[in-house]
Amino acid sequence: MQLLLALAAGSAPADSHTVTSKGGVVVSVSPPATDVGVDILKRGGNAVDAAVAVGFAEAVTWPEAGNIGGGGFMLVYPGGDKEPVVFDYRETAPAAATKDMFAGGANFQSAKTAGVPGTVRGFELAHKRLGKLPWKDVVTPAVTLAADGFPVSDGLAKRLNGVLDDKKTTNAEFRRVFGKADKWKAGDVLKQPDLSKTLTAIAENGSAGFYTGDVAAKIAAEVTASGGLITPDDLKKYAAKERKPVVGTYRGFDVIGPPPPSSGGITLLMTLNMLERHEVKKHPWGSPETTHLVAEAMRRAFCERAKHLGDPDFVKIPDHLTTKEHAKKLFADFDPTKATPSAKLAPEIEVKDGGTDTTHYGVVDKDGMAVSNTYTLENAFGCRVVVRGAGFILNNEMTDFNTRPGVTTTAGGIGTDPNLIAPGKRMLSSMCPTIVAKDGKAVLVTGSPGGRTIINTVLGIVVNTVDYGADARSAVDAPRLHMQWFPDKITLEDRPGFEELKKALTAKGHTIAKAKQGDGHTIHIDPKTGVRTGAADKRLDGKAGGE
Ligand code: GLY
Repeated sequence: MQLLLALAAGSAPADSHTVTSKGGVVVSVSPPATDVGVDILKRGGNAVDAAVAVGFAEAVTWPEAGNIGGGGFMLVYPGGDKEPVVFDYRETAPAAATKDMFAGGANFQSAKTAGVPGTVRGFELAHKRLGKLPWKDVVTPAVTLAADGFPVSDGLAKRLNGVLDDKKTTNAEFRRVFGKADKWKAGDVLKQPDLSKTLTAIAENGSAGFYTGDVAAKIAAEVTASGGLITPDDLKKYAAKERKPVVGTYRGFDVIGPPPPSSGGITLLMTLNMLERHEVKKHPWGSPETTHLVAEAMRRAFCERAKHLGDPDFVKIPDHLTTKEHAKKLFADFDPTKATPSAKLAPEIEVKDGGTDTTHYGVVDKDGMAVSNTYTLENAFGCRVVVRGAGFILNNEMTDFNTRPGVTTTAGGIGTDPNLIAPGKRMLSSMCPTIVAKDGKAVLVTGSPGGRTIINTVLGIVVNTVDYGADARSAVDAPRLHMQWFPDKITLEDRPGFEELKKALTAKGHTIAKAKQGDGHTIHIDPKTGVRTGAADKRLDGKAGGE
């Protein structure tokens, strides 16, 4: 009753990580960015306006992954009879890139690993197509946050101290912009005046303020000084793309995800299609039986990912991958009693012996339009090179290509053809901003950071919601598992009973390790009442806010 009374008046925060509302909801890793999104909704902006504003705000307040120097995917579910759409703003390889430029190994802290950034063109395209408020209104909150500064959280303080303590962080501009005479601590204010100027150029001139003129000249100068390949011409030619999402079904729900060049949507749907053939909820989530079943489906889906997926503008992706018939074939040899060795799945791929930072946020507005956005610099703080005088970090996304042609390793390196480097090509991603819908209405908006673990984090949240009927908080909190074909092992998040579970799975032939997965900020919309529950993940910082 109390909840209903509170909802009549607006949103009801249970704690800063959880909110319920009949109006708009925003979930993200960064409390000031969530506040920006809620404010945009209160000013009459729709979910796309809020998502673009949150994205620019996180470029200021979550510099390890929020960005204007990287790229990502924005999935928009307008609702009703309007088609969902994906804005693909993945980075591209510069024109001077070559297939084997990293064959001898890549220095992850070098501008040579930077792809041509896509975020600003991507946000501009999404806003032009579906936004309501003027462009300037959605960029300006980020301008202000950068100029006036914001109090860093304990989590951000720790991450800044970590990257500054690392001797591999050699770029002087990075140290000038993010450095501090003593250690960062919660509550210290981070001001970024150069970034504020760059964002002002974007607010006033749109993407031209980034890809041409003064900012573009600064990027080119920095890249030349730091050994990178991006040229002014690469910047001028960069185009964000509007793509049809991957759409499938799982137990009567529509599941919508990003298409290639992200592997997220196809890999998620292949895994769900295999699981649909079994009664997952016969055993509890986290039981040996369910963990084995889910991991075996993941193993097969990730092998398919390695065989087939890359930039669709460069490689032909088979049409049948997400069909139910294909899942039947893939899972025909599933054995509930024992693990299938990964090496058996693709004998045609020679396998030799042998960073995961991104951020996700979601928005639902009062009218039910939903946005699921994941974007990244690849590793935390990208290649740790800040563009001199422009205040933002360059990505190291080129390392998401298969950098060693022909070299697929038991350690997880992939060398298959579809994702080899070529000029202008987009590197394969695992980003998986996902929306689950029923009867034309979004019911779940989710996604995660974490490299290849992203897809399996999303899978866990979807399965907990659909199969087990978990509420948003429980679905996000539930311990996660990951298996990606190679390495041939399952990683499990720590949990009560970890050792017993490990023993049971080891007896089936699995290798088990302990590892944390990414923060999957999620919104659930009750299809009957329309009440939205935002659950920001507690694994990291995070805030759920409502109108
Ligand atoms: N850089 C992480 C991904 O795109 O999957």
